[in-house]
Amino acid sequence: MIFLKTDEEIELMRISNDLVACTLAEVGKNIKPGITTLQLDKIADAFIRDNGAIPSFLGYEGYPNSICTSVNDQVVHGIPSKYVLKEGDIISVDCGAEKSGFHGDSCYTFCVGEVSEEARQLLKTTRESLYEGIKFAIEGKRIGDIGHAIQTYCENRGYSVVHGMTGHGIGKSMHEEPKVPNYGKSSFGTKLRIGMVVAIEPMINLGKQNIYFADDGWTAKTSDGKISAHFEHTVAISKGQADILSSFKYIDEILENNVK
Ligand code: MF3
Ligand code: CO
Repeated sequence: MIFLKTDEEIELMRISNDLVACTLAEVGKNIKPGITTLQLDKIADAFIRDNGAIPSFLGYEGYPNSICTSVNDQVVHGIPSKYVLKEGDIISVDCGAEKSGFHGDSCYTFCVGEVSEEARQLLKTTRESLYEGIKFAIEGKRIGDIGHAIQTYCENRGYSVVHGMTGHGIGKSMHEEPKVPNYGKSSFGTKLRIGMVVAIEPMINLGKQNIYFADDGWTAKTSDGKISAHFEHTVAISKGQADILSSFKYIDEILENNVK
């Protein structure tokens, strides 16, 4: 069953998602060679709580931490650890927070220092593909239109789309119906209606699409060992133009400062 949100509920979700956006930037400020992924988790956890919210991931189906940190060939759901980030790594930071009963969910893949041109291009394409999908997150379109846009954009550039893991509806629960695959056929699937809120999250591989799960039961990794990228926004379906509730604007601000 798909839960439609009222305008008031969407405003609450905008607040949760804005906090997630700020948390990702706070983590991003600290991403540099020498820091561990567990230190990043502590930063995110403290920031979320200091802002009166609850980390959505901690304890979710037994998940042990407040963010997912997926480095290089880790696709998603990497568990923060003593791993020390090194120059040239890429790291996706996935974060969820609940405030006033509603969840926010967003993910960004960061560079650690200077990364290869190959990595830079993968990140650029994956981020762009998210916005290609979002263009179809409007009233009257279908779930398949979103996936088709993402898949076409990435495959045309030589990358592959991870199958079997999808985006999702979101609201009072972090994962609600419908599933939002990053592949599909235009004009197929559930029709999008005002009040639906979905998390769209392309997971895109440099090499082949195949993945496996590590022994920790959580971490998805590429089978060929090549790198993978992941970007996610929470989006409210509206008329004519999608209403993106999360944001990368705070991240873009800190990254600009980093370069200078
Ligand atoms: N954004 C992730 C997703 O939608 C949430 C991580 S799952 C958790 O799949 F278990 F780590 F919380
Ligand atoms: Co999600």
